[in-house]
Amino acid sequence: MNVHLPCPARSDLELAPFTTFRMGGRAPLVAEPRNREEFVAAVAALRAQGLSFRVLGGGANLFIDDRGIDEVVVLSAGMSFMLREAEDTRLLRLGAGLSLPRFVASARAMGRSGAEFLAGIPGSVGGATVMNAGGRHGELSGIARRVRVLLPSGAEEEVAAGAGTFGYRASIFGPEMIVLETVVELEQGDRKQSGELMRACLKEKGAAQPLTRRSAGCVFKNPPGQSAGRMLDLAGCKGQKCGGAEVSEKHANFIVNAGGATLQDVLALVRRMREAVLERYATALELEVEIWQRGFAAGSSDPEGRGGR
Ligand code: EPU
Repeated sequence: MNVHLPCPARSDLELAPFTTFRMGGRAPLVAEPRNREEFVAAVAALRAQGLSFRVLGGGANLFIDDRGIDEVVVLSAGMSFMLREAEDTRLLRLGAGLSLPRFVASARAMGRSGAEFLAGIPGSVGGATVMNAGGRHGELSGIARRVRVLLPSGAEEEVAAGAGTFGYRASIFGPEMIVLETVVELEQGDRKQSGELMRACLKEKGAAQPLTRRSAGCVFKNPPGQSAGRMLDLAGCKGQKCGGAEVSEKHANFIVNAGGATLQDVLALVRRMREAVLERYATALELEVEIWQRGFAAGSSDPEGRGGR
């Protein structure tokens, strides 16, 4: 691919290693900006050359086509800073590429409290912001105060987190508002207490979820007031297999990669899971994961009825 980029880049690179599910074929080009400036410049260069691209963070909530994709991929990992805001010491400015587990560990090391509930959630700050990552004990929106985004015009804007900014595993952020930085508010805390809280969260997660297997987290969102995992379990999905993709025996809302899973395996299993719940509960489950499928450009609908990001 003949593209000029103001940052390091690799051609024809396999994407599986960048995802927690370990599935994904080659992208024609993967841009690897080393810092925020290079990231912004790389996006501007791609836009100026009329090339479609996708931003890849921690790859934690994502199924990528094993046959590869046609778009350029821009990694956000180079924006991994964590800075104190001068105006208020409770505020921390996090780069979108910072790993969420690293942020949680650093916050504790700094003696800050309020992020413990994110312990055990993989991915990047940017992805966690777009998805409003969280669980039973809270969501990122509970500590996010402002989000700095890159607009299609190339301008940057600082968006205040307010009503309508975040929803359940959803936000206004995405390809039209690429997350550069998220400002979070944490209280002065106690390291020992934070450590205990984090361990309790991890223990709870480890007891319920297949944390040692390769997965993309929960596949479906919980319908209002219900648990997709319980419904899938009672509909008999645990242990079901399609090629290398299997429904976890531990938690029925997780698909694990038992080795060599393809996107067709995953989609077939997703269809089967959805049909089982539809039949038993007359409820159509909505996907939580993102799917990057060859032939479905960023922003278009995917075959499971969900727009790409
Ligand atoms: N359950 C079953 N069988 C299963 C799975 C769950 O009976 O196979 C039951 C559990 O026993 C429990 C209920 O269903 O009574 C709820 O299950 P769980 O506590 O595991 O929570 P969840 O609603 O399935 C949500 C989030 C998780 C988050 C956990 C814990 C969604 C879709 N899932 O799961 O988030 O980690 O709470 O806070 O909102 C994710 O979004 O990727 C994710 C893993």
